[in-house]
Amino acid sequence: MTKHIRLGLLSEIPKGEGRTFLAGMHRVAVFHSRDGHTFATQADCPHKGGPLADGLVGGTTLICPLHEWTFDLRSGMAISGTCGLRTYPVTAGEDGTLVLDIEEDGGQPPWRVTDYSKT
Ligand code: FES
Repeated sequence: MTKHIRLGLLSEIPKGEGRTFLAGMHRVAVFHSRDGHTFATQADCPHKGGPLADGLVGGTTLICPLHEWTFDLRSGMAISGTCGLRTYPVTAGEDGTLVLDIEEDGGQPPWRVTDYSKT
């Protein structure tokens, strides 16, 4: 069963930046793109644990601050590098509260992998 976890206010994340949150047992990075969209991924880079919330956000692309692996925030797919990110559904309600969806049993939702290069 999916658990809906309130993380805080979207307004606390400047556009073009990310922040790290604790969602139950999981650390997640939430990003607020310059065009107002929100994305959530695992907090630590799969390469060597870089803090993804400190990465560079451009549109739907995230660049890790340590060694510049690049990811698609929509799917978590690696654009450069050899491993993708786990992503989570996140939405901002009418009052601006961010709500993250995560599996209630502590497990993580399945990878949401979409190969946008084929669309
Ligand atoms: S830790 Fe992210 S690219 Fe190396």
